[in-house]
Amino acid sequence: MSAREANLLGNIHGGEIVKLADSTAGAVAQRHSGGPAVTAALDEMAFLAPVHVGDIVRTYAQVNWAGRSSMEIGVRVEAQPWDEPSREQLHVASAYFVFVAIDAEGRARDVPGVEPQSPDEVRRLHEAEIRRSHRLARRAEIEAARRES
Ligand SMILES: CC(C)(COP(=O)(O)OP(=O)(O)OC[C@H]1O[C@@H](n2cnc3c(N)ncnc32)[C@H](O)[C@@H]1OP(=O)(O)O)[C@@H](O)C(=O)NCCC(=O)NCCS
Repeated sequence: MSAREANLLGNIHGGEIVKLADSTAGAVAQRHSGGPAVTAALDEMAFLAPVHVGDIVRTYAQVNWAGRSSMEIGVRVEAQPWDEPSREQLHVASAYFVFVAIDAEGRARDVPGVEPQSPDEVRRLHEAEIRRSHRLARRAEIEAARRES
């Protein structure tokens, strides 16, 4: 990544990593759903290590869970110094996005389900369900608190 994307510390700005992860997740969501899909929520973004100017950054993403029209996409971001190709890629960030597939009118449309095969896919599905249930519970609690205030 280039110096144009750096923050005042000289590392890559976190927002640039979010944008990259969002773009990758969007591509995966559109492929899975066979059409347009929009970012509905960024459920979690963890920055694990700084990304430096000149690093080659790679993103990996998959559909962890699918509902009726929404999908959770997990993204892993790895970085490697541009001039050290033999150096192991460092896991620098992880993110979980919720995308919703939309039709031409912008309305939510149905998406194919997820059928986990490998142990990793089963684990990702289970963890996505945990995040979803926490998200829904948090929203319900906040709405209840607002009604009471
Ligand atoms: C995402 C969007 C299409 C959802 O529309 P909506 O009218 O709320 O749709 P629905 O109530 O029918 O919900 C559709 C699905 O989205 C999910 N959803 C909606 N808002 C959500 C949120 N904030 N977080 C997680 N899931 C959400 C619902 O749970 C539902 O999932 P399911 O079909 O798998 O059960 C709409 O809010 C939208 O267009 N948002 C703007 C998207 C955008 O511009 N993104 C780019 C940001 S810069």
